[in-house]
Amino acid sequence: MAKTFDVGIESLGSNGASQAAAQQAVGRQPAAGGLLPLPLRGATGGDGAVTPAASAGKSFFLETFGCQMNDHDSEKVAGVLQGRGYRAVESPAQADLVLYNTCSIREKAAQKVFARLGDWKTLADGKIIGVLGCLAQQEGEEIFERAPWVSLVCGSASYRKLPELIARLESGGRRVTGLDLDTDQTFETEITRRDNLLRAYITIIEGCDYACSYCVVPHTRGPERSRASDAVQAEARRLADAGYTEIQLLGQTVNSYRDPSPRGWKFVELLRAVAAVPGIRRVRFTTSHPNDFHREIVDAIDEVPELCDHVHLPVQSGSTRVLREMLRTYTREEYLQKIAWIRAAQRPISITSDIIVGFPGETEADFAETLSLLDAAQYDAIFSFKYSPRPNTSAMHMPDAIPEEEKSRRLAVLNERQRAIQIAANEKLVGQSYEVLVDGCHPARTQWGGRTSCNRLINFTSPHVNLLGEYVQVKVTRAGPNSFAGEHVT
Ligand code: 5AD
Ligand code: SF4
Repeated sequence: MAKTFDVGIESLGSNGASQAAAQQAVGRQPAAGGLLPLPLRGATGGDGAVTPAASAGKSFFLETFGCQMNDHDSEKVAGVLQGRGYRAVESPAQADLVLYNTCSIREKAAQKVFARLGDWKTLADGKIIGVLGCLAQQEGEEIFERAPWVSLVCGSASYRKLPELIARLESGGRRVTGLDLDTDQTFETEITRRDNLLRAYITIIEGCDYACSYCVVPHTRGPERSRASDAVQAEARRLADAGYTEIQLLGQTVNSYRDPSPRGWKFVELLRAVAAVPGIRRVRFTTSHPNDFHREIVDAIDEVPELCDHVHLPVQSGSTRVLREMLRTYTREEYLQKIAWIRAAQRPISITSDIIVGFPGETEADFAETLSLLDAAQYDAIFSFKYSPRPNTSAMHMPDAIPEEEKSRRLAVLNERQRAIQIAANEKLVGQSYEVLVDGCHPARTQWGGRTSCNRLINFTSPHVNLLGEYVQVKVTRAGPNSFAGEHVT
């Protein structure tokens, strides 16, 4: 991921120009780059009793790569292991069980996983090495061929079986796999380790029933499964009791949520219920699919102050022709209609997006439509990607592949256009005050960083000490393309 900030306290007074990709003023990264993040710790438990320590004295190391869904899956896996008596350690060398939670969304991500598994080859003696997540599901037993020192391969749809798989290895099994996709259950855990002190994640829907032609997720995470609304509410209450004030609801298509319990709640009903939990001050949700994004979500944000002023609504392309080839199920015009609803809200709502350049057959005219969509949508930030052909996707064998250099050129042009949009928009925010949840500090201790409700990153000065975890008012004094500098309004 690109650097997450460009207006650090240190750069105040300089011209502030940054080489950082024009992506992340309103990003998905929780930590304030350049500042010390809050310490990691903590666990929240479910209602059930904890399994007796089956592996007392054993240790695990878990590395995570990929999206927020993966980060949160890892928190749950760590909770399951700790519930079985495993202790977390800081390096693979110290661990009895070494796990890698992987991503395969683009080719580069997959290559990185095999490179890391290569690093672990010399460590393997006497340890269990396991591959979890999307690459595990995608490659399956092939992983044993390419990295014979791996003994566990388990995709996210099979995590419920993890304790059983680990038990089989502990009692002498050589190789085990969990690769079923046909589960209709979600991954519920008795204990979830919480790695972020301020923002707690709750997965409300797993898998995906769309079939975007470029995307591995339906194959790696399986069909859509929503969690019962009362289980989600109960988890939100437990998190509030544990002191959390910010919750992020997660799902590949979070707004396709459909309560499987007799209540049959829609996404917006669940959203309002989570926001109503006493003690919760901020509720975020990601990622929304445009097809399931209805006006009632904007109405809820308008009416409920706890719902954050930010919507991540990936468009992928500005060309209706390419959107059709991508099987995105909406046109450019339909998408822009949804942007218009959001822009018409009573309070300003940040909008961010994902965009792919160089999809097979994308013409100059198609790409020009993506550029003009940037102008029309006026995103606060984008995450931009070069198309990467993936196994088990229908676009894999489409004709008219775009050459790599051309994809790179389009990506640079896209990011340059978006950067100019962000510079102009962010400049207008100088002088405004925002409520910031403080999540980082500079060692000098008078310099702080945090996120606004709209997920903007602000680094600021304050005469106060111990602001971590506090909500404070900050006035913006400087704007960069990706972040802001400000001062505490006391
Ligand atoms: N190539 C490039 N980008 C992709 N994404 C998903 N699949 C691919 C692919 N094959 C991007 C989409 C998605 C984001 C998480 O990753 O923009 O929204
Ligand atoms: Fe992938 Fe499309 Fe599902 Fe998103 S909606 S996870 S891009 S298939």
